[in-house]
Amino acid sequence: MPAERLAIVTGTSSGIGNAVAFQLMSHGWAVIGVSRRDSTIPSPTYRHVKLDLGDLDALTATFENEIAPLISDDRRQRVGLVNNAALIGRLGTIDGTDANEMLRVYAVNVVAPTWLMGFVARHAPRSASLRVVNVSSGAAQRPTPGLGEYVGTKAALRMTTLSAATEFDAKGLRERAPADTALLSYSPGTVDTPMQVEARSPSADQFPAVTMFKGFYDQGQLVSPDQPARDIVAFLESEKAPRVAERRLGEG
Ligand SMILES: NC(=O)c1ccc[n+]([C@@H]2O[C@H](COP(=O)([O-])OP(=O)(O)OC[C@H]3O[C@@H](n4cnc5c(N)ncnc54)[C@H](OP(=O)(O)O)[C@@H]3O)[C@@H](O)[C@H]2O)c1
Repeated sequence: MPAERLAIVTGTSSGIGNAVAFQLMSHGWAVIGVSRRDSTIPSPTYRHVKLDLGDLDALTATFENEIAPLISDDRRQRVGLVNNAALIGRLGTIDGTDANEMLRVYAVNVVAPTWLMGFVARHAPRSASLRVVNVSSGAAQRPTPGLGEYVGTKAALRMTTLSAATEFDAKGLRERAPADTALLSYSPGTVDTPMQVEARSPSADQFPAVTMFKGFYDQGQLVSPDQPARDIVAFLESEKAPRVAERRLGEG
């Protein structure tokens, strides 16, 4: 693995995360990817961690034991984290909520990315530039019938990103984490991935917002995963970045 630039990208087996991993490697980054499925990325600069992010014991043990030494290598000049993996959760109204399934969606979409932010803050060399992208959604700010689990997790991750950014300026973490740390809450737009297929599959009786998702597809509004991936990679490579920013597809 090349020494200078290393990124952790979750959800590299599909969609946006897969495109981010390929673009980063073509720019000379080493990538550690995470997903439940096996790797489809044959490259000497790619290392795959086959893991269910909802299994928090496995996540924390694997990263502390196997990944921490790679991140903390003094040769790292730039460390990236792209919290991209997410579950769409239950597509249906609140009266059918399964409490344990909902907890699992929050584990994958909120707890794992939050823990990973703290992990890179602890382990990246202080002299390195640290860039974190948390993949958000328009749904973080838009009530959507039948999408409550997903909406709730994206709103939570968005606010956690904004809150964490203030901690990097507070006494304590400011002295421990890389001084050049920047966070981005990023909404990728409507992207042609398996998650969109899931969202337009149920019946309208089950999932009231299904017509909106069918409309995105029918009206040709879905963009290729390469488009948001370009924005994400540009942020990871940015020399000067504000402590925290919120952006949507195409805003750089
Ligand atoms: N597509 C859109 O229009 C859209 C719009 C707004 C926001 N987003 C956001 O963009 C991000 C990427 O979504 P996408 O559209 O590219 O979806 P996708 O094609 O379904 O990819 C999701 C990725 O997350 C991984 N993943 C899911 N659950 C996981 C788990 N428990 N443990 C480990 N990995 C897991 C999947 O891998 P495995 O299945 O192999 O585990 C897959 O690689 C998500 O945060 C999503 O909320 C997407």
